[in-house]
Amino acid sequence: MNKKTVTDIDVNGKKVFVRVDFNVPLSSKDPNANITVTDDTRIRAALPTLNYLLDHGAALILASHLGRPKTADDKQFAMGPVAKKLEEVIGRPVNYIPAVMSDEVKAAAAAMKPGDIILLENTRFDPREKKNDPQLGADFAGLADVYVDDAFGSAHRPDASVDGAAYAMRAKGGPVVSGFLMNAEISALGVAVENPPRPYVAIMGGAKISDKIKLIENLLDKADKILIGGGMANTFLKAQGHNLGKSLVEEEALPEAKRLLEMAADRLILPVDVVTATEISNEAPSEVEMVWALSPDRMALDIGPATVERFNAELQDAQLVIWNGPMGVFETPQFAHGTNQLAQMLATMVDQGTKVIIGGGDSAAAVRKAGLTDKMTHVSTGGGASLELLEGRELPGVVALDER
Ligand code: 3PG
Repeated sequence: MNKKTVTDIDVNGKKVFVRVDFNVPLSSKDPNANITVTDDTRIRAALPTLNYLLDHGAALILASHLGRPKTADDKQFAMGPVAKKLEEVIGRPVNYIPAVMSDEVKAAAAAMKPGDIILLENTRFDPREKKNDPQLGADFAGLADVYVDDAFGSAHRPDASVDGAAYAMRAKGGPVVSGFLMNAEISALGVAVENPPRPYVAIMGGAKISDKIKLIENLLDKADKILIGGGMANTFLKAQGHNLGKSLVEEEALPEAKRLLEMAADRLILPVDVVTATEISNEAPSEVEMVWALSPDRMALDIGPATVERFNAELQDAQLVIWNGPMGVFETPQFAHGTNQLAQMLATMVDQGTKVIIGGGDSAAAVRKAGLTDKMTHVSTGGGASLELLEGRELPGVVALDER
């Protein structure tokens, strides 16, 4: 990436506005409950940047969205629990100001000393955030001397704290640079888009193909093979003429599935067997059925053992593997075997020199659940952002950064 990063600029004695992605899972939706952060991966992922800036004499104003609040009254999305978790993992006091932009925010930022940390309220509590309101962007930039974007997970959102603030900082002569996480994400995922080592195998899963048609199309252009599992495989199998029983099938996406199958010729590899049950429950008796002989009253909930073997064979020589989306309903342990076996296979391949990149979202959660995060070459912190990057789209949060 030919964009400037934190090591390219002097931050000593500067106030730095850092857009982070602290959109983390929370323990409760009840605003009156004692809400805690249940997975701090995204907070920890920003630490290298935050610690670097602090060690080099900066004061930090941190901003992030959290969830999708409709208004500022959706208090279950307030940043209090995030501030608490951040204090714990960074080991320094964090001044959480429960306002996105106000005189109090401006006064607190003006009074900051090197080493101080302010965390602003959920940026989406201000309706101007999603509208990329220029005044809000200018106000964010006005708090600081430098703009750092380390929020890869939000890089596809042209919001005021991602886009407007970056351009406003440049307009007032300040640097607009990436953090370490942003850099790591773009270099890891960028390999797949720009110059992939071959053979390059993509593995796609998850429930729907309708959200991923563009992605599969782009992958057909770039990857040597695409292995398909999870709910989306059902739609492809139905498009091939199989009877999928009670399985989830996106009927309206069947024409697109047929088109992709034609484009792919033999490069799209579908399951040959699936684990089926009559309901999604650990107690429901499960069976392995071949995809051409699925019982009419059952649904496909995981890939079967013959498919795992087939995928394993297809993966053998791969130099690069990108994985997005689980192979089954992995939240229910009975249907998590395919996803777990795939994660294990990929971890072994990394040991043998293959680059394995996990494209965020549910597949990152599955790898984490299997305890294999550290075994992979890169596990993205971005869900939608990683998909859009792999689709070959430009991300506003990246476009906005200063060129080297
Ligand atoms: C994510 O979790 O993918 C990012 O934080 C973006 O969140 P959003 O989809 O609500 O914009």
